[in-house]
Amino acid sequence: MAKVKVRIPATTANMGPGFDTLGMALKLYNEIEVEEIDTQTEIYNNNLKSEENFKDNLIYKSITETMDKQKYPHRGFKINVIKCDIPISRGLGSSSACIVGGIAAANEIMGSKMNLEDIIDLATKIEGHPDNVVPATLGGMVISLKVGEEIKYSKVTVPNKLKFVAMIPSFQVNTALSRKVLPDTYLKEDCIFNISRSAMLISALYNGEFDKLRICFGDKVHQPYRKNLIKNSDAVFKESRELGSIGEFISGSGSTLMAVLDKNADEFMKSMKKFLDKLEDNWNIILLEPDLEGVKIAS
Ligand code: HSE
Repeated sequence: MAKVKVRIPATTANMGPGFDTLGMALKLYNEIEVEEIDTQTEIYNNNLKSEENFKDNLIYKSITETMDKQKYPHRGFKINVIKCDIPISRGLGSSSACIVGGIAAANEIMGSKMNLEDIIDLATKIEGHPDNVVPATLGGMVISLKVGEEIKYSKVTVPNKLKFVAMIPSFQVNTALSRKVLPDTYLKEDCIFNISRSAMLISALYNGEFDKLRICFGDKVHQPYRKNLIKNSDAVFKESRELGSIGEFISGSGSTLMAVLDKNADEFMKSMKKFLDKLEDNWNIILLEPDLEGVKIAS
């Protein structure tokens, strides 16, 4: 019976103005092992059996939805989460990692029946929006959009020089809740604000026009409504700016805040850590680079 190991990167979605559209994979990973078994499914965390009901497990749901779609008969699975470095419900794509990991594992077990497009379309159907699952599948920064049930995507060049600092509080933000706080309609001028910034963000990255990035990360669609769900977000953004970051945004729906750097990060990391240590909520800080590989079947 087949056994497969999969590595999936974290992602940062929206990247300011690109709500439900822009996302980038990051060098921070989960790793899962999936084995077909003849008995009922069992979930393990680092080889320790979990009490969780397997039917609620997103990796399990993604595996079985994939196999059902391909009419591949299945019984049970041993699902072992061997590495879980992506923090849960912090806007770094932890659920997308479960979905993409589950689909990729199922596809490998079935003998790679699905191509990338099939994987991306199904992952988006399960997640509801494409901006985490597409970069988690492909790696790099990606623009994604829906045409009916199909996803179209285009990769974006991100200059090597840019580094991404994830500042992660101990509290979680639930994506469903943070989508509920958004308005149903927007003013025309707010739409123009975001369209202009996301368009220029892509070309400024391509051209290496770092001086334009701060403006390009501007957003009037989701961040103004969500920042109140993230205690101290204004203070953390202000401190990042003062310490020399060239732009900041809420990662996905939060709670992680992201700062972008175009120079040596040592000084920023040291000073920012000191600042975060003084706040409540046990903030963690991680320096990250884009992942360019996407989901990978490990040998
Ligand atoms: N685009 C989504 C949102 C990402 O902001 O709600 C959530 O991970």
